Parts: sequence; C-alpha cells; structure tokens
Amino acid sequence: MINKDQLLEALKPLIDPQYQKSMTDLNLVRDIMIKEDGVSLTLITTTDDEAYKQQAKSAISLSLKPLGVEQVHIRFRAITDFERNQLNEALQPAAQQADAAPQTILGEQSKVKFIAIASGKGGVGKSTVTVNLAVALARQGKKVGIVDADIYGFSIPDMMGIEEQPQLVNNAIIPVERHGVKVISMGFFVQDNAPVIWRGPMLGKMLRNFFHEVNWGDVEYILLDLPPGTGDVALDVHQMIPQSKEIIVTTPHATAAFVAARAGAMAVSTNHDILGVVENMSYYECKSCGSKDYVFGKGGGAKLAENLHSELLAQIPLGAPDNHISEKDYSPSVYKADTTAGQIYLDVAANIISKLEA
Ligand SMILES: Nc1ncnc2c1ncn2[C@@H]1O[C@H](COP(=O)(O)OP(=O)(O)O)[C@@H](O)[C@H]1O
Ligand SMILES: [Mg+2]
Repeated sequence: MINKDQLLEALKPLIDPQYQKSMTDLNLVRDIMIKEDGVSLTLITTTDDEAYKQQAKSAISLSLKPLGVEQVHIRFRAITDFERNQLNEALQPAAQQADAAPQTILGEQSKVKFIAIASGKGGVGKSTVTVNLAVALARQGKKVGIVDADIYGFSIPDMMGIEEQPQLVNNAIIPVERHGVKVISMGFFVQDNAPVIWRGPMLGKMLRNFFHEVNWGDVEYILLDLPPGTGDVALDVHQMIPQSKEIIVTTPHATAAFVAARAGAMAVSTNHDILGVVENMSYYECKSCGSKDYVFGKGGGAKLAENLHSELLAQIPLGAPDNHISEKDYSPSVYKADTTAGQIYLDVAANIISKLEA
C-alpha cells in the first residue's frame, strides 16, 4: 500500500488552473484516506468550471495509477472566501504584504475602544451579555463591532440570527452587520458546524486575522466575546490588545463568582482595567406580583466586584427575549429596547460610554 507522502508526491505535478501552481503545494488536496481497495480525497476547487472537475478527476486517477491505485474517490469542495484570502496572503511577496496591510484597528493611532467580555466558566451568559451590550451601544448611536473570539464555542452569529456570510472586498473581509453591530466570528468560516480543531499558534493567527484582514471601517467600540476561563486564547487577546478593558460576567451563586474571580485575576495580572462585573440570571421576577425570587442565590456579583475593586454594573434578571422568528431581523438573543433587560443593557451602555469617553 502507498503512503500519504507518496500520494502527494505523485499529485505534485498537477496544476491548479486559477493559481497556476501545484495543487498539493497550495494544500488543495485534503482528507486523504488510503485503504486496501483504493484512495479517497477531497479536492478544493478554485473555479466553478464543471469541466475542470472532470479533468482533475482523470488527471488524479492517471497520476496514481503507476502507484498501483485502481480506485480513486474524489469529493469536490469549492474554496471558501476565507481560504482564498489566506491563500492570497500566503502567496504575496513579503514586501507587498506590508504595503497591502489594511489600516489596522490595533495600531497605535487607533481610537477604537476594546472591551473584552470574560467569565470563569461557560454558560453564565457571556455571549448574551456581549451581544446585548453591543446592541445597546449601537442603540445609543455608537459604531460597534463584535469579535467572537470564542473560537471553539462561537455562538454570536446564531444568537443574532445572522445567516449571511461576510463578503470579501479588495482582499479584506467585510463583517456582517445586524442591529447596527458589525460581527466577525469563526462561525462564518466553518462549514456545516464542523468542529474546529486548530491548536496553539493557529488560534493566535486566526484571532490576528480578525483584526488585520477584516475591514472594520469606521468603528468606535469593539466587544470581544472571550472563550470561558483563562486559556490560551484569553491570554492571546490580553497580549494582542493590551489597551482592552474588561467586563467579567458571573451568575449570583458564590461558587460561580469564585470561579469568575480567576478571569478577573488574569485581567489584573495582565494590566487590563476591569470596567466592572455583570451579574446575569440574578433573579426571577414574578410577572403578576413583581416579587423577586433569587433562584441561583444572591450576592455573587457584588462580592466579586468588591474583590476586584470594581463596580457591579448590572444585575440582569432571568428571562429569554420575547422575539419571534417571523419578525424582521429576528435575533433569538437580543432583548428589545423597551423590555426590562433591554433597559438594563441601555443603562450599562450609558455607564460605559461615560466611563470611557469622559
Ligand atoms: N438572563 C438570562 N435569562 C435566561 N436565559 C439566559 C440569560 N442569559 C443567558 N441565558 C441563556 O443561557 C444560555 C447560556 O448563555 P450564553 O450567553 O451562551 O453563555 P456563555 O457565553 O457564557 O456560555 C443560553 O442559552 C442563553 O440564551
Ligand atoms: Mg458563549
């Protein structure tokens, strides 16, 4: 039986029509499986031309025949805008790359205000807070973006009901806009909700792309939905954006607040200002009598704020947004401005604007 290297070597002479370079050098041959009775692989196509697929199929079969491979099963997949962009970047000469770098929002002249939303663990409402705070800032006239930096657990596109893909214009990715908020997320670049298996350096590169390869246009605030906890990505963000401020999200339970304190400690140790703590799922308010039931305990947020020498920015009640799929711009996780939660988010946004623009 042949091995993968032999297979790639045999396909090396095959040229991609668009790039005029070896398809294996361009990493367009993927998912190689070698079995007794044949070989299967995916070919990433850079053109829509049906004739090309037939041609490529014959060329691949012919190239593998001398190695004794009789059966070749080829799946075709069109290159995504994002992959194309990465390929173009990789193929540019280094000097040109520096020239072509779009105006970066991380640069020293950048006036963009970054706010990272962190939590000790998942499921406390970090993404919900990110989305609603971003929308609340936009409702107050600010130009806002969200970077969904939760690379493995991306959820912002779904939560905002975004079904479009970002467009590629002049080699830069244009974020998708919803409720006046520009959004970029790993979710846009993953097909069919496939798991993301990148590790270490690739993750950092991915994040960097979110800043350098994306044309954010005129944006004043960028909110970053960090992955839960204090792992590599959270640390990357801290190092990449030293000027970023931070909001810590917790539930009212003492244990949750204790775990959230670690995220706070990370912010402190990397010299990030903590804007405050948002306590989510604080209480359930009885619709008929108005009394508050503190189902998850009480005081976690206040205690955490005190420990971090920071402020408790808000206590957000339990309750899903009352939205319906038939509505225009339906976003499952965005509270309307005139609801209790919507009002609280508007207050937090106003507070943040006054803190950062005073
Ligand atoms: N105040 C709230 N009341 C009711 N459900 C909430 C509230 N905040 C968040 N949720 C729900 O809890 C789940 C976890 O929230 P999410 O924002 O995804 O958390 P995280 O990003 O911290 O993992 C989601 O299903 C979300 O809709
Ligand atoms: Mg989340």
